[in-house]
Amino acid sequence: MIFDSKEEYMSRIRRVVISEEEIKQKLKEAGKFIDSIYDGKPVLLVSILKGAFVFMADLAREVTVPCEISFMAAKSYFEGTESSGNVEITMDLKQDISKYHVVIVEDIIDTGRTLHTLLKILKVREPLSLHVVTLLDKPDRRVVELKADLSLFTIPDYFVIGYGLDYGEYYRSLPYIAEYDYEKGE
Ligand code: IMP
Ligand code: MG
Repeated sequence: MIFDSKEEYMSRIRRVVISEEEIKQKLKEAGKFIDSIYDGKPVLLVSILKGAFVFMADLAREVTVPCEISFMAAKSYFEGTESSGNVEITMDLKQDISKYHVVIVEDIIDTGRTLHTLLKILKVREPLSLHVVTLLDKPDRRVVELKADLSLFTIPDYFVIGYGLDYGEYYRSLPYIAEYDYEKGE
């Protein structure tokens, strides 16, 4: 995608769905949730790149119990607008996760197929426990049964950008979550 100007880039943001302030508030709750469960336990926060990089950076700073942080990258293959569940791990964890309580820090659960596959792969490695914290959840779109242990925001079925989430690799740097306006360009 090529934009002629910042004005054109910004014009495709239909509206702000979740503001910076709302995100900050929920991050505090999520930090407390992790603190309350994992004090005194070896915990590894695992973010799935790229979408969850902003969420991980902000969430980690709300966590006060000792924790390690790591990243994985996965490529989900799409069939039209839906992920297929065919997932390739393009960057794996270095740790032996059998020594950790693992918390997956995810950007969004849509059909659930990507995370379903990833969880299956990670369970085989026998972590001490395995939980999921997601920034966003679109339950209306779910195809496989999957529930996060903590979801910060539940949204209806529209395409969102910002705060790490992209459209065509753009918009990840917006500090808020917005709806992408398909009428302005695809
Ligand atoms: P799932 O396998 O259908 O749950 O899709 C998960 C992945 O699709 C997410 O990790 C995102 O990368 C992408 N995705 C799904 N919905 C959105 C959206 O509204 N905005 C941006 N990316 C999305
Ligand atoms: Mg993702």
